[in-house]
Amino acid sequence: MNNRITWLYNEFNQVGKDYSMPDEVAQYDARHADFRDVEQESIAVLDALGLGKNDVVIDFGSGTGTFAVQAALRCATVHAVDVSQAMLDNAKDKAEQAGVSNIAFHLGGFLTYEHDGPAVDCVVTTFAFHHLPDFWKGIALHRMNHMLKPGGRLFMHDAIIEENQAIENIAALIEKLASAGGNFLQEDAEAHFREEFSTYDWIMDGLLSRAGFVVESKNIQDGVLGTYYCRKQ
Ligand SMILES: C[S@@+](CC[C@H](N)C(=O)[O-])C[C@H]1O[C@@H](n2cnc3c(N)ncnc32)[C@H](O)[C@@H]1O
Repeated sequence: MNNRITWLYNEFNQVGKDYSMPDEVAQYDARHADFRDVEQESIAVLDALGLGKNDVVIDFGSGTGTFAVQAALRCATVHAVDVSQAMLDNAKDKAEQAGVSNIAFHLGGFLTYEHDGPAVDCVVTTFAFHHLPDFWKGIALHRMNHMLKPGGRLFMHDAIIEENQAIENIAALIEKLASAGGNFLQEDAEAHFREEFSTYDWIMDGLLSRAGFVVESKNIQDGVLGTYYCRKQ
């Protein structure tokens, strides 16, 4: 797509937190450990998706690679896609330490990654889709749909907001994160809502449906953290 249009959204221009910076990447896992156990989350998602040894997965916004490594331990191949070379380097180190060699690392993103191989079984994206404005989320979802086999799965987890009590719920989340991780997490969360692109759940529902997905399960925790399990129609 990037070869065809000159006005493509520049997804390599990081908004909000700059994950192209090695210092930012180096502290990512420790900072996130204050409010989530990414390894356990990944295992739970893989269990829920029921992925196994023949399955091929694409992880968009793979970050430090925790999900990709867990997926690689039970799947055939994982494509870890990220716009940050520093993140990919960190993920490669993690894969090497875990002794997995079935992860293909790709410098690219939702709008620029070109999937060469056969259609895949599953696309996963966690805390990364909010880097795109909504119009481009729609384009990205169509692209993901084309990368999937018929009946293939999409898992998405991100800041996805219910309209009712939105401001109050966001304020409560920021307070909760401040208690868990002090100033760093508070500033991180505030910057997220100020500068990045959270989406109302009713918009996400429409974008998913128009891109050819059926939402099989949806949960918006505390009105602000969305988890979607979808299937390609
Ligand atoms: C908050 S981190 C999430 C990492 C990991 N998925 C997790 O759950 O911990 C967001 C990641 O998305 C990447 N990213 C930002 N914009 C992207 C895009 N347009 N396409 C793919 N990855 C992107 C960033 O470089 C960063 O590694």
